[in-house]
Amino acid sequence: MKQKDEQKQDNILFVGIDLGTSRSSICASNQIREWIESFVGWPKDFIAQQVIGKPVLFGAEALENRLSLDFCRPLERGIIKEGIERSDEAVKEIIRHLIDLAKPLPDQKIHAVVGVPADSLKVNKLAIRKAVADYVHALMVVSEPFAVAYGMNLLNNSLVIDIGAGTTDFCIMHGTIPSEEDQKTILAAGDYIDDQLFSYLSEKYPNAKFNKNMVRQFKERFSFVREIPEDVSAEIPVDGKPVMHDIKNEIRRACESILPALTETTTEMIARFDPEFQVKIKNNIVLAGGGSLIRGIAGYLQDALKEYGPCKVTCVADALFAGSDGALKLAQDMPSKYWETL
Ligand SMILES: Nc1ncnc2c1ncn2[C@@H]1O[C@H](COP(=O)(O)OP(=O)(O)O)[C@@H](O)[C@H]1O
Ligand SMILES: [Mg+2]
Repeated sequence: MKQKDEQKQDNILFVGIDLGTSRSSICASNQIREWIESFVGWPKDFIAQQVIGKPVLFGAEALENRLSLDFCRPLERGIIKEGIERSDEAVKEIIRHLIDLAKPLPDQKIHAVVGVPADSLKVNKLAIRKAVADYVHALMVVSEPFAVAYGMNLLNNSLVIDIGAGTTDFCIMHGTIPSEEDQKTILAAGDYIDDQLFSYLSEKYPNAKFNKNMVRQFKERFSFVREIPEDVSAEIPVDGKPVMHDIKNEIRRACESILPALTETTTEMIARFDPEFQVKIKNNIVLAGGGSLIRGIAGYLQDALKEYGPCKVTCVADALFAGSDGALKLAQDMPSKYWETL
């Protein structure tokens, strides 16, 4: 309550931002929740400018018009690509756009908690600070899985596994703000599945014409591990004509391709703890991120880990907003001394 009064007095808009490789979302204390795909594009030239009619495009709109745009996916592989043309600028545009979507009042100050892939946190916190400094009055940067854990009240004896596009981030919570040791990032994630699926499909159907973007869409529509009863087929053009192709086996193999690395990293991270804590953590494993939407993935991981004793793996209820919801909660709860003022 006290916090709410302060909020009114100081006229602060608290926001939680999840800055992801493929999707970024914002949740604000005025109840607004929005997301965009983390793509940015600027018109290539004078003609493109006339066709597009806007100085910059985001997300799906940028992807659709990519042939007329200087196109940038600035957080690919989880890290702001410093030095790569316009990538810093692109992160800045994403932040500005997300904050616009949250509709702050003209005189409102913005206090933001930004969740980023655990690797970016190590490598370029400074770049992230620079990207938000123009739009935000106070800031805290945290790792994405920590934001998820905070939002779900998983502060003690839990493991959050955030399966994103470029990276899968692991974070063990044991009652304090997680240290570097408690976090780990691997590249077995959504993009890796897409690469696998692309090569399996190219091998099986050499005459079919498809690209990475279509492959990702097939995955997002049909993803599963182990068994499902129904057939899985997709329309792919051959010699310019749409033809249905059976892609069930390829989808399953591609989705399962990340499982050995997930299982291995999970056991490795838990093994560092006292046996008593190991049991507790193992019974409190939560999958987050777009990859948690793969059908059957929690059950698979749970069974694979059972070899080492009982465990429980569940998925977050809302894969899209779990990170930004947690970041907002953190923003609203955090004492002022933890804020970095900009
Ligand atoms: N239904 C789905 N099944 C499998 N993967 C999915 C599904 N929906 C989204 N994804 C994948 O999840 C990844 C994006 O997850 P997200 O948590 O938004 O990532 P990031 O935090 O890296 O932006 C992408 O690789 C996307 O293709
Ligand atoms: Mg994410």
